[in-house]
Amino acid sequence: MKRWKLVVAVACAWSAAAWGQGYPNRTVTLVVPFAAGGPTDVVARTLGASMSKTLGQTVVIENKTGAGGTVAANMVAKANPDGYTIFIHHNGMATATALYRKLPFNPLTDFEYIGQVADVPMTMLARKDLPPDNLRDFMAYVRNNKEKINLANAGLGAVSHLCGMLFQQALGVELTTVPFQGTGPAMTALLGGQVDVLCDQTTQTIPHIKAQKVKFYGVTTKQRIAALPDAPTLDEQGLKGFEVVVWHGMYAPKGTPREAIDKVNAALRAALKDPVVASRFADLGAQIVPESKQSPAGLRDWLAAEIDKWGPVIRKAGTFAD
Ligand code: MLT
Repeated sequence: MKRWKLVVAVACAWSAAAWGQGYPNRTVTLVVPFAAGGPTDVVARTLGASMSKTLGQTVVIENKTGAGGTVAANMVAKANPDGYTIFIHHNGMATATALYRKLPFNPLTDFEYIGQVADVPMTMLARKDLPPDNLRDFMAYVRNNKEKINLANAGLGAVSHLCGMLFQQALGVELTTVPFQGTGPAMTALLGGQVDVLCDQTTQTIPHIKAQKVKFYGVTTKQRIAALPDAPTLDEQGLKGFEVVVWHGMYAPKGTPREAIDKVNAALRAALKDPVVASRFADLGAQIVPESKQSPAGLRDWLAAEIDKWGPVIRKAGTFAD
């Protein structure tokens, strides 16, 4: 081997080894595709604080909002794959493939998978002074007042949009929807009475439900949930088969070195075992996924199955975002 080739080969081997041992040697950015203060942000900040301890570097949150999470996903897909940009997203990563005919990234090929995080139920809410007190009366009220009712969501592709879309389908109505950059600001509008209805995640809604600042009509899971044990499901109150559960995955840009993925995955797994995280998630109704799902393969297989599941539902609704 010529001398310069040997020098280059040795230098490359040395820098790869040094990179692997040194990672992370600066702040890691966790991109959140919705507004600060909302449900995805709450999950990300709870995890980020714990992951910082394991990684030995601060995990900072960057809220990059827009287009139901696709603005952030596209930015991360094109980010430097150096291990210093990671991403958390929910069901929107799967539903975007059907909602957007010109999606500028491919969820299945443009990312490295880190692992799944937690599953979160949703809750059907209305502003506090909306007259109905239970789901049956609420459904009748919505049918009778469909021209007047505003339904808030976090943009096309957000889970609040998906939940609202399924609710309208179930009732056979079309309401005026009001998109926000996340359900953080949508909740502020609901509390202020500027919008009428919001389907949102327990990670944001439980404190408002407990403080009775909103009308609460039930949870979107098949079974009742431990965090709100007295709350009926929508299914048991007559909306048969109505189920929306929000799942979360952590990703990095395609080409991120394996060593970084392994270290971030180890930090994620440690966070999901951290009693501080476990107790906060339990209070907010977020159920940590089993260990098998906390792996890159667990997330990849789940995402592929979710794309197959939601594609036909969205196409049937005839809803497109572009
Ligand atoms: C958020 O964090 O604002 C939500 O996850 C938005 C949504 O998908 O409804």
